[in-house]
Amino acid sequence: MQENIKSRIYYLRKKILRHNNLYYDKNNPEISDGGYDNLVKELEQLERENPIFDSSASPTQQVSGFVSSSFEQIKHSSPMLSLDNTYSQEETKKWYNKIEKSLNNKTIEFAIEPKIDGVSASLTYINGILTVGATRGDGEVGEDITENIKMIQNIPHKLKIYNPRFFELRGEVYINKTDFEELNEEILNFEGQKFANPRNAASGSLRQKNPQITAKRKLNFFVHSFGKIYGKQFQKQSDFLQYCKDCGFQLQDDFKICYSLEEIESFMNVMINKRDLLSYEIDGLVIKVNSLQSHQELGYTNKSPRWAIAFKFPAKQTTTILNKICVQVGRTGIITPSAILEPAALAGVTISRATLHNFDEIKRLKINEGDTVLIERAGDVIPKVVKVIKKGVTASKDIFFEPPKICPSCNSKIVKENEKEVAYRCINPECPAQFRRHLIHFAGRNAMDIEGFGEAVIDQLLERERIQILADIYYLSYDDFIGLDLFKEKKTDKLLEAIAVSKKRPLSKLLFALGIRHIGEKASEIIAKKFKNMNALFNANIEDFTKIHEIGNVLAVSLKNFFTNESVYHLIDSLIKTGVNMIEPESAQADDKFNNKIFVLTGELTNFAREQAVKTIKALGGKVTASVSKKTDYILAGINAGLKLKKAKELNVKIINETEFEGLISKNNNSI
Ligand code: IVH
Repeated sequence: MQENIKSRIYYLRKKILRHNNLYYDKNNPEISDGGYDNLVKELEQLERENPIFDSSASPTQQVSGFVSSSFEQIKHSSPMLSLDNTYSQEETKKWYNKIEKSLNNKTIEFAIEPKIDGVSASLTYINGILTVGATRGDGEVGEDITENIKMIQNIPHKLKIYNPRFFELRGEVYINKTDFEELNEEILNFEGQKFANPRNAASGSLRQKNPQITAKRKLNFFVHSFGKIYGKQFQKQSDFLQYCKDCGFQLQDDFKICYSLEEIESFMNVMINKRDLLSYEIDGLVIKVNSLQSHQELGYTNKSPRWAIAFKFPAKQTTTILNKICVQVGRTGIITPSAILEPAALAGVTISRATLHNFDEIKRLKINEGDTVLIERAGDVIPKVVKVIKKGVTASKDIFFEPPKICPSCNSKIVKENEKEVAYRCINPECPAQFRRHLIHFAGRNAMDIEGFGEAVIDQLLERERIQILADIYYLSYDDFIGLDLFKEKKTDKLLEAIAVSKKRPLSKLLFALGIRHIGEKASEIIAKKFKNMNALFNANIEDFTKIHEIGNVLAVSLKNFFTNESVYHLIDSLIKTGVNMIEPESAQADDKFNNKIFVLTGELTNFAREQAVKTIKALGGKVTASVSKKTDYILAGINAGLKLKKAKELNVKIINETEFEGLISKNNNSI
């Protein structure tokens, strides 16, 4: 009897995973929604009644495909930044010299840590109790995964010593290599989709809807940095780490303090050789200036700290056969060739496709179908073909793959806009392949962020001719979705709600979503902040754009071309008619807590570098002036404040100390 139940459970798991795979990955479902639901229901019931066959790899325990789960959002106490990378000792030397120069050539202590190939997470302890766990998200706002974080075996729920009132520390959640293999094996047993690498496995296991699954996934955590800390101060990164150890955290064994470039380089070489012996994946080393005071002096770019750098280990390479070259049409019409490869294992992943960049690259590398090629998976995820290792037995070795004359999607003529350009394009504005990519970009997370409106949904809607222009997204109705595979009432309602919500996104997001050539996320934000509404952009000329410090000629010309294009006018008009917001709201322009309030800083600050305090005030919408007057709203007084403080008292200006300042900026959870 038990055997029968067991084999039925195994059979159902395999079958459901196969259908998930057909639906989500192959876009080719074989059964109806109802048929699929019946299988899931039967499996759920059998698992409920027979808990001895419980398995975290069961499809009933996983969030499948693109359907994201509903985590709450958490605003980080300060942004979770990333790190700049170097790929050679030469580049590391340059960074080292720059640091030495900036810190006036004194002997500098460096803390070197392995760069763990996991997924970053933030843990907040309030009075020593683990209160919040969050993913990195977009760096500003992450997902609330507190319950899942609590399931990670080496994360203390209560600190052994709990001095800090507020302690936000950050680190990497990862899975050991052997646990990763085992997990994949378990998943494979049911013909499920394997995780491509330990990082994906850690991330997938952390973002489970059921924390019990996370508990079974053998995740670990290493602490490496911090956000805000109130009630405790550290002098050095190494002190911070030691303190974390005393609090009950586990630290990496391979940590080293170095005082010279030579020492750093020799530790790098040690670790390159040791890399494969570690029980977890590392993809480089993080070199940090140890003194936290120096962190303040060196500061940050808007993406990463200047006081640290990630030295990435040499890329992993392997050889395989290039079976076929095919072409794809991108969002802007660029035609890119890519290589279909004989599947090969590389850095823990099976690679069956690689980029060939452009058609000149094919000629330069003398690549033909059938050749054995060297492929590389460098710092980025897309593998590339490095060179030909052995020619294949092709008839004509000197004839290389030519760019297509007509677009594979719409049959329009392919052109090279000018001889200097390497890219070939389909310039048909109505090309379906471009439109498809444009829709995907428009709805993407960093653009209009329409959750659930992914490739599979877009493809089905296009097939059914429900969308012809961008604005059609906003006319989609219940009936358009309910007919799609796996769409039932709840999912349909959720997606309709997500579409409606996206109408309110600020102008900056809309600008990015429109996919204007050369205009990325940052530029979109800057432009939206300056021009405030779409109308102003239509009226702007090139000089109005170049007046903005960050906007150069190429971007300005691209913007002008875009906004003088008649079809763009119609596009925007159609979006306005659907109620899409065309304004950059004040609150998105700057966190305006200090709404034009005037600050004067005086004396020596201890918790903040002066520059950091100034930046904070400005970021929150305030202004900083040098001298005190009646117009001054606040005077931030540090140690040994002198004349300005006296004058402020005379003029009855509100005087605040650093603690009060911290209180002001942290109220309502606003970040610096
Ligand atoms: S320090 C401002 N130390 O690498 C960021 N990061 O590529 C300070 N990472 O987002 C981070 N190991 O999630 C630091 N020993 C380590 C690390 C580490 C892995 C991750 C981290 C960061 C990413 C940047």
